Parts: sequence; structure tokens; C-alpha cells
Amino acid sequence: MNPSNIHHSSHELQLDRDLVKINHAPAPLHRADRNGFLRPLPLWVMTFSMFLFFWAGMYLAYNSGGFKANIFDATVVSWSGGGSSGPAAIDMNALGKKVFTQNCVICHQATGLGVPGQFPPLVGTEWVLSEDWHGDNHLVKQVLYGMQGPITVKGQPYNNAMAAWNQLSDQQIAAVLTYVRSEWGNNAPPITTEFVTKVRADTKPRTEAWTLAEMKAIPKEMCSGAPVAATPPVKK
Ligand code: HEC
Repeated sequence: MNPSNIHHSSHELQLDRDLVKINHAPAPLHRADRNGFLRPLPLWVMTFSMFLFFWAGMYLAYNSGGFKANIFDATVVSWSGGGSSGPAAIDMNALGKKVFTQNCVICHQATGLGVPGQFPPLVGTEWVLSEDWHGDNHLVKQVLYGMQGPITVKGQPYNNAMAAWNQLSDQQIAAVLTYVRSEWGNNAPPITTEFVTKVRADTKPRTEAWTLAEMKAIPKEMCSGAPVAATPPVKK
């Protein structure tokens, strides 16, 4: 026999044995299962996730506010009919209250009564209600660029300074004035955003606070575009 043949056949035999071995080996595991991913979850994990889903559901049920836009953003009144035309009008009073609380309350106070001798009141004043020579334009101009020096408010003298608020948007100024004019028993018609836009344009390129003399020289103008019918202002 040719020795090379013998060698050859024993090699074949060896291969066959390997094949047999492979056939008897357990089926190769799925890759993920080697890490244990396909094994059933422990009971506590399932119970805990069920609890989490339940809690999340309850949390949303109690705290989502029905996912209504006006719950999350006080400036949105509602979504107009049928959901076809997008967000509806802004609630100017709600926005105004927010602007007032953030910017004006520190001096004029939540009561609108100000601080005697320092910060004038906003309740029933000729500025706020646009009485006598004061027009809606004076009120808007005064808030846009502030006021300095001696003024008389409801017969009381003040000699202080109020900073400019021209960094607020036309809508924010309209809203805060609309709020101020309807709060604390004040009853003057709203100031519209369009009116503030107009007064701001007229007033450019002003940068400093007004003095009383400057203001008095400006003719009275009213915000005629007010959407709500004017009720006579309360005289205090
Ligand atoms: C740092 C204090 C301060 C802040 C904040 C302030 N004001 Fe004034 N405000 C004054 C002072 C002081 C005067 C009087 C100015 C003077 O003495 O010349 C005044 C005057 C006024 C007047 C005219 C007089 C009157 O009382 O009717 C109005 C209206 C007014 N402020 C509205 C506002 C609004 C609206 C805001 C918020 C956007 C605001 N103020 C924020 C101090 C402040």
C-alpha cells in the first residue's frame, strides 16, 4: 500500500469524525440569546413596568389639561372653530397681567396703588384713563420711553424716573395697558397692538425718557381701533 494513501484515508476519517461532532453539537444560539435577551423578563421587572405605565397614564390624565393650548400658554384663548384656522386671538388681559407681574409690579404694586411719594398709582389716574389733555398716545409713549422729572398724578407730585419699556413688543405693551385700564376698578377701553405699532413708529428715533413739558406739547390722540365699545372712564 502506498503510504501516502494511508495518510490520506486517515485524514478523511478524521474529517468525518469532526462532522459527526458538529452534527451532534447543540444548535448554535441566536446571538442575542447568548446575552440572555430572549429569556423571559423577571417578574419584578414586568410588575414594575406595568406600574410605571399605569402611573404615567394617571399622571397625564390628571396633569395634561386635556392638552389644550391655553393651559400651557396663557396668551392663547382657544383654538378657533373646527381646528381649521389655527390658533385664535390672544387673551390680552391674561398676557397683560403676565407682563405687568414681570415688569411693573415691583414699583406700581399688585394693587396698582404704587408707593406714596415714590411710584405713582395706576388706579384711576389721568394717564391711565386718558383724561384731560392726556391721550392714549401719551400713555403709550410714556411706557415706551419712560418718564423723568416732576409730574403730578391724581394731584400728588412725583419727581422720579421710570425706565423705557421699548424692549417689550407692541403686543406686550398693548396687553399690559389693556390690563391696567381694566383692573382695580379702572374702566377704560383697550389699547390695541396696531395703535402701539403706530405710536412707536411716530416716536422714532427717540431714546430718552419724556419730561412732562415735552408730553404736554404733543396733541391728544385716541386709540380708535379699540374692538370693545368705550365705556366712560371712572373718575376718581
Ligand atoms: C422702577 C420703577 C417702575 C417700574 C418698574 C415701572 N414704573 Fe411706571 N412709573 C414709575 C415712576 C417713578 C413714574 C413717575 C415718573 C416721574 O416721576 O416722572 C411712573 C409713571 C407711570 C405712569 C404714568 C403715571 C401714572 O401713574 O398714571 C404709567 C401709566 C406707568 N408708569 C406705567 C407703567 C407700566 C405699564 C410699567 C410696566 C411695563 C411700569 N410703569 C413700570 C416707576 C416705575
